[in-house]
Amino acid sequence: MKLLRRVQRRVDVDPGEVALNARNVRFDWADTPLHWMPAEPIASHLINALNLLLPEGERMFCAAYSEALPYVKDEKLREAMLGFIGQESMHAETHDKVLHEVLAANGIDPEPYVRQAEYLFRKSLGPKDVDGVAQRQVMVERLAFIACLEHFFAYLGDWVLNADLEKFGADPRVADLFRWHGAEEVEHRHVAHDVAVYFGAGYVRRAAIMMIVFPIFITLVVRGTKFMVHQDPALPDLGYRRLITRVFGSMWRGALPGVPSLLWSALTTFKPGYNPESVGSTAQAVAYLAKSPAAQAVAS
Ligand SMILES: [Fe+2]
Ligand SMILES: [Fe+2]
Repeated sequence: MKLLRRVQRRVDVDPGEVALNARNVRFDWADTPLHWMPAEPIASHLINALNLLLPEGERMFCAAYSEALPYVKDEKLREAMLGFIGQESMHAETHDKVLHEVLAANGIDPEPYVRQAEYLFRKSLGPKDVDGVAQRQVMVERLAFIACLEHFFAYLGDWVLNADLEKFGADPRVADLFRWHGAEEVEHRHVAHDVAVYFGAGYVRRAAIMMIVFPIFITLVVRGTKFMVHQDPALPDLGYRRLITRVFGSMWRGALPGVPSLLWSALTTFKPGYNPESVGSTAQAVAYLAKSPAAQAVAS
């Protein structure tokens, strides 16, 4: 069935790059459970942990793009960057609400982890107090870093659009949250790469940054999952070894994307002539966005 869906979406007529607009969405989070896939509590927490990271990360993306915009003379790229900023700021705002309306309502205090994410994205990956050429170099590094992360987000977006989360009893609101977000990630997947290339981030720099970004991304997600499990009174406080064993079990069952396929996807960015268009289908993303319950709730 899964294979059939993948084949089907590959034969859809892909519209190519589309004009990017932020879609308004409305979610009613009342009584949303922490284990939103009841059959997969650890996988639920791993995906929940993205709510801890995404708001700060996406705010950093918007800040870096606002800084870069005045230097962009290509009108088409400017339009794409403005659409990107609109979509990412809506993602950040929506995941921030999940932090406060779902995690907090279930007795999870997200603040310690959120403060670490703030430090990472505002200080370590934020603008530096330098001028001239150094300031430009820092900005280009940040844009290349964003391009690497956006590759992962497009990959994850494509995964969630095609994953059968319903067989694990997924809460339809949380599934829609990640599919709406994932679909917009697929839709705007070319932007960060185009921006990094426009600013002169060459092959070597992008490959070097990807080698750093991959382990950092995996580490942050695993740490976030441990943080969530530690605070969940319904689960044993697993050490890293047992936690990772259970995460691999969830991957095996299809409740999470597999690390080997994520690694393989990261390696495709090392191919000369890499193009993010190969990650996911715009036709499938746009079709999902047209029927997303959260988007329809605003439209109606
Ligand atoms: Fe996003
Ligand atoms: Fe994105």
